[in-house]
Amino acid sequence: MTKSIEQIPAPAPMPLFGWRGTLWQLFSDPLNYLQKLRQQHGDVFAFVRGGNPPIFFPANGRPHTLMAFGAEFNRQLLSNSDVFYSGPLLGPMHPMGEVNARRSVLKRLGTGLFGVNGIEHRRQRRLVMPAFHKQKLGEYYQDMIRIIQWNLDSWKLNEQRDIWNDMMNITLQVAAQCLFGLDIRREGQAFGDLIQEWLHHATSPQTVSLQIDLPGFPYHRFLNLSHKLDTTIRELIQQRRNAEGQDVLSLLLNSRDENGNPAFTDDEIIGHSVIFIIAGHETSSNALAWTFFLLSQHPQVMKNLRLELDEKLGSQTPAYDSLKQLTYLDNIVKESMRILPPVPMSARVVASPIELGGYLLPIGTEIGFSHFHTHHDSSIYQDPETFNPSRWQHINPSAHEYMPFSAGIRACIGMPFALMEIPLILALTLQRYRLELVPNSKIDLNVGITISPKHGLSMFIRPADGNYEAGAGNVKGTIRNVVNL
Ligand code: HEM
Repeated sequence: MTKSIEQIPAPAPMPLFGWRGTLWQLFSDPLNYLQKLRQQHGDVFAFVRGGNPPIFFPANGRPHTLMAFGAEFNRQLLSNSDVFYSGPLLGPMHPMGEVNARRSVLKRLGTGLFGVNGIEHRRQRRLVMPAFHKQKLGEYYQDMIRIIQWNLDSWKLNEQRDIWNDMMNITLQVAAQCLFGLDIRREGQAFGDLIQEWLHHATSPQTVSLQIDLPGFPYHRFLNLSHKLDTTIRELIQQRRNAEGQDVLSLLLNSRDENGNPAFTDDEIIGHSVIFIIAGHETSSNALAWTFFLLSQHPQVMKNLRLELDEKLGSQTPAYDSLKQLTYLDNIVKESMRILPPVPMSARVVASPIELGGYLLPIGTEIGFSHFHTHHDSSIYQDPETFNPSRWQHINPSAHEYMPFSAGIRACIGMPFALMEIPLILALTLQRYRLELVPNSKIDLNVGITISPKHGLSMFIRPADGNYEAGAGNVKGTIRNVVNL
C-alpha cells in the first residue's frame, strides 16, 4: 500500500537547532553524512522529519526534500522527465521569489536548458544540439589544440604550479573561443576575466547566503557583474549577427525553427551560452585535475598510459580521429569520473503527484540522487574505492549505474565536447611533461555542485623522464575517505 510522505524515514530535528542542525551537517560533509543517513534509514529518506525549507530549488516553497539512492531510483527519476522536473542552475539566486529589474538578469543568465521542462525542453534541446554534433566538434578541435599548446609552452621545467588553476584557465580559454569566438590572447582576455569573476561570485557562499543588494555586499557586486556580462554578450550578439562565425553563439543566432524564423530570442541565446560555460567549465577542469592527481598516485597506470601514448602517437599531435584509438586513456578518464564524478549529486522536483519507493510524493517534493554514491556502490563495482582503469576492459555498467554525465533525455549535452577536450589535454600534457605531486600534499574535497580540490593541486612540472614513482604516496586529507591511496 502506498504510504504518505510523512511516513518516510527521516532523522528527527536536532534539539535546539531543528532542521538547521541537519542541514548544517549535510553541508559540512555531504558525502559521508548522506552515506550515514542511508545506512540508518534505507535507500529513500527525507532530510528532516516534518520537513525542511527547500534545498535544491529554493523558490518552490514546499517543505519536503528526499534522497533516493541506487541504480533503480536513478532510472525512475531520469526516465520520467515529465514528472521529475529540473530547475535553473543558479538555484538560490534565481529570482522567482522576488522579481525586480536588477535580479531578473539572473534568470536570463542561469536558466538555459536546465530551467525548461517538458515539450519546451525537448524543443530547445533539439535546436542547440547541432553545436555538439561530430562535424562541429571537428571544427573546434584545432582551436583546442592551439590553446592547449600555447598554455603548455608557457610552463617551465621544474616549476611548481597549481594544476587545478591551470585547468580552470585552459578550459575557460577553450570555452571563450569555441562558444563565443573570442581569442583569449586578444579581445577575449577581458571577457575571460569577467566570466571568471562572475563564476567565482555565483558559487561563493557569501553571495548565496547574504542576498543584500547594497554597495559593499558581495551579492551587490555579483548583480553588477551579471549586468555587465549580460551587456557584453548582447554586444557580441550584435557583432555576430549575419557573420559567418564557427562558434556556438553564431550557430544559435543562425538557427531557424521549422517555419524558418529565428529559433531563439536574444535572451534565450544569452541563457544557453552562459549555461554552457557554467555547466562545462568547472566540471571539465575538475575531471582533469583529479585525473592528473590520480595518475600521480598510480605510477603503474601512468607507465601504461605512457606506453600507449608512445606507441600510438609518438611525438605527433593527435589527429581528431586518432583520439579514439587511445583506449587506455579512455579507461583512465572513465575510471577517474567514476571514483570522483565532477558532479556528485543532482536533483529533481515533482511536477505532478507520483509514487516513489512506496511513498506518494506531492507536487513540489525535491529529490536528490547521487552520482557519487552510485559509483561507490560495492554491489556494482568491486573495490569501489580503488582506482583501477583496467576494470573497464571487463565491465559494462548500465546507464543508471555509471552516470558522470547523467542519463536519459536530460543527460549532459556537452558530453561529446568534454570527452574530446579532456583526453586531448591529458594526452598533450603527458606527451611533454611528467606531473609530480608536491610531497606531503593535503588534498581535501570541496563538495558543492562539483567536487574540486579545496586547496588547489600543487604539482611540479618535470620532463617526461618516466620517473613516475616520484611524488607518489604520503597524501593527506579527506581524499583518503573516498580513494584508496
Ligand atoms: C566533465 C565534464 C562534464 C560533466 C561531468 C557534466 C555533467 C553533467 C551532468 C551530470 C548533467 C545533468 C545534470 C542534471 O541531471 O541535473 C549535465 C547537464 C548539462 N551539461 Fe554537462 N557536464 C560536463 C561538461 C559539459 C560541457 C562541456 C557543457 C557545454 C559546453 C555542458 C553542458 C550541459 C548542459 C547544457 C546540461 C543540461 C542538459 C539538459 O538539461 O538538457 N556540460 N552535465
